[in-house]
Amino acid sequence: MGGGAPAGGDFDALLTQTQNQGWRGLFKNGRALGLALFASLGGVLYGYNQGVFGQVQVMYNFEQRYLATFTNADLKGLVTAILELGAMVGALTAGPLADRYSRKYSVSGWCIIFMIGTIVQCAANSSVACIYAGRFIAGLGVGALSMLVPMYNAELAPPGIRGSLVALQQLAITFGILVSYWIAYGTNFIGGTKEGQSQAAWRVPLALQLVPGIILAIGACFLPFSPRWLMLKGREEESLETLARLRNGDPSSAEVQYEFRALQAERLVEQEAAKERYGQSEVNLRVNLLEYKRLLTTKPLLHRLMLGAGAQALQQWTGINAIIYYAPTIFESIGLTGGTIGLLATGVVGIVNFVFTIPAVLFVDNFGRKPILAWGEANMAISHAVVAAIIATNGPDFENKKAGNAAVFMIYWYIANFAVTWGPLAWVVSAEVFPLEMRAKGMSISSATNWLMNFTVAMVTPHMIDNIGYKTYIVFMVFCIVGFIYAVFILPELKGLSLEEVDRVFNDDTGAEDRARRERIAKQIGLDKVAADIVHQEKPHANGEATHMA
Ligand code: BGC
Repeated sequence: MGGGAPAGGDFDALLTQTQNQGWRGLFKNGRALGLALFASLGGVLYGYNQGVFGQVQVMYNFEQRYLATFTNADLKGLVTAILELGAMVGALTAGPLADRYSRKYSVSGWCIIFMIGTIVQCAANSSVACIYAGRFIAGLGVGALSMLVPMYNAELAPPGIRGSLVALQQLAITFGILVSYWIAYGTNFIGGTKEGQSQAAWRVPLALQLVPGIILAIGACFLPFSPRWLMLKGREEESLETLARLRNGDPSSAEVQYEFRALQAERLVEQEAAKERYGQSEVNLRVNLLEYKRLLTTKPLLHRLMLGAGAQALQQWTGINAIIYYAPTIFESIGLTGGTIGLLATGVVGIVNFVFTIPAVLFVDNFGRKPILAWGEANMAISHAVVAAIIATNGPDFENKKAGNAAVFMIYWYIANFAVTWGPLAWVVSAEVFPLEMRAKGMSISSATNWLMNFTVAMVTPHMIDNIGYKTYIVFMVFCIVGFIYAVFILPELKGLSLEEVDRVFNDDTGAEDRARRERIAKQIGLDKVAADIVHQEKPHANGEATHMA
């Protein structure tokens, strides 16, 4: 890198090289890790909501009270799916509000909205309208947190560990799902599992979400502001102080100065680009909307957006949430009758999902994206095919216990494969396909796509199970094959590439203009000199531990 600012103006690249990366880096950055873990309560809420309702809606008391009267499968599906619709709206609106009111107060605010939704559900009288409304409102909060928390974490962390933070979020989600399953499994017994069942059986697991909600809503107010947000607001001094505190370093140390100046440069780059493109240097709502327009109408950018949003859509169409939401129903359909056995089997889904996310988190950066994604789709397609075949030959009464067990095993195999591959990687891919200046906007559209598809799958699955039975799995199998083709033939390998290399892969130069601007501004504010200092400091440690700031 010749001792200057990293080529292409990738301000993070230098520190990524000189710091401990991945999980090693996480543990070396105790403070950032602690804060990220706390903020990841948002991911736990996300997962809890993904998991809890599948359990609640097969509880006798809940079914009798709300669902028994439904003749329409759409209304039934919507009780689950409406949360995802709210989440999509939340994910799309959270970004601009977070720019205005800060990341941390946004986290607090959306937590309060989430809690209002939860209270409406818990206190629902005999009208199912409260459940719909409560789930929609809670969804707004969950969707907003699903993008705010990773964004806050990434802005707090040193560059070398940002990738691992994506995986940390996925681990938090799967932990939330796991906990929700087992809590609901336990509360299902309150008052018995049939006629005698108490309302508490379903009200308690819904109400328990308030505990992490309150902790996060209050705790977020005491978190530091994101240094990037402070810079965005022109509060440069505070930004520098916060960075120094986060890195346990001195404000004048080369590393802290480098990160600080990189933030400064980032802001200047945005302002200059806005001035050139739209005639104003204030990056306000108008500029943001015009940038969204550019993303949607410039061919090479649109191509990347299709790949990123495509990864998210395909993740949902693997059928993961058909299983997460309807596992108890699915297990019943393959012979695990007697309510609680289905719930127990579902609890195991939660464990498998969580446990198999751990290796993904540890090794996410050691392998290429394409082979992992292809492996995942191939195995998920096989699982769907086998489950379909077993149900086709044994259903609908399912006397054959062995066949039932084989189907259950295949569902676990499916979950394990999802957890190590598409679970975290869809999020990683949908971040790394975008040029830096479009990353936040690209990701907000990609995550909204994830929620929209999540909603669609939740809506159509009960219909498919009722009307086409085992062929439901064939539908998901076909999507897994499409995902396999995407992984092998459509998605370029992006692991470990620099920003220019990614541009070259996409054969476009949309990023070139911004890169040139970045390089020039980096020079202007002396970023290259600080970079040279760091490289100089690193030399004596050439093949040992890199000097790090903690
Ligand atoms: C997906 C969720 C899913 C979860 C399961 C996430 O990556 O986006 O929709 O419920 O994984 O672990």
